[in-house]
Amino acid sequence: MHSETPIVDAVIRSRKAVRVFLPDTVSRGAIVDILDVARSAPSNSNTQPWHVHVLSGSVKQRLSAALARAHMDDNHPPLQHFPDPLPVACQPRQEEFGARYYGALGIDKTDTAARSRASGRNFDFFGAPVGMIFTIDACLKKYSWLDYGLFLQTVMIAARARGLDTCAQVSFARYHGVIADHLELAPGHDVVCGMSLGYADESSMINRLAIPRESVDRFARFAGFDEHA
Ligand SMILES: Cc1cc2nc3c(=O)[nH]c(=O)nc-3n(C[C@H](O)[C@H](O)[C@H](O)COP(=O)(O)O)c2cc1C
Repeated sequence: MHSETPIVDAVIRSRKAVRVFLPDTVSRGAIVDILDVARSAPSNSNTQPWHVHVLSGSVKQRLSAALARAHMDDNHPPLQHFPDPLPVACQPRQEEFGARYYGALGIDKTDTAARSRASGRNFDFFGAPVGMIFTIDACLKKYSWLDYGLFLQTVMIAARARGLDTCAQVSFARYHGVIADHLELAPGHDVVCGMSLGYADESSMINRLAIPRESVDRFARFAGFDEHA
């Protein structure tokens, strides 16, 4: 067994959602390296349900502009990414996140216009030099979305191990039609999420939210461990 903390632990713990990026560019080769690591993520029967659109430069700008217009027009149905109501156990965590996030932005949570402007920053990939859009064949079931989550976390950890930062962004899924047109998505493919990738601006308060997690004893129940004591 390891006597020292594994390096991977420090990389995993150092990942955080970054929402203000420096303009420093990231090369295509660096992204290929990250995706080359991420493709080793496991999937049910090795089905590998991921498809990634990696965007930079004018292509990213054009998509961002179209999404900003769609967000301003506000005539797309809201994305129901949570049930209403949220399970009671999840509610305080969501509230705590909202308090820290809008608090850092100086936005009152009842100020819907300011909140909408803040969420609009998603579509600029928070100023990151690279934006990614992840898609899946929509006929696949929730188990394949589970595979996708493993892949996404592997992308984020591989990025972090190279000094890069990310933010996974489900917000993009609301504008599936706009994205499908711009990126010529295969028919029947859904947007899973987007992701911003680049170097964090560590001077920004919004990058220092330190979103807390429950301790292990709050979400895990152990049984049968004392039988051989
Ligand atoms: C699948 C997924 C979708 C997310 N979507 C968004 C999003 O659309 N916009 C955003 O600002 N953050 C988004 N986040 C970031 C979460 O808010 C963040 O991971 C969470 O609050 C925990 O904070 P941490 O990642 O800094 O530890 C998303 C995270 C995940 C995993």
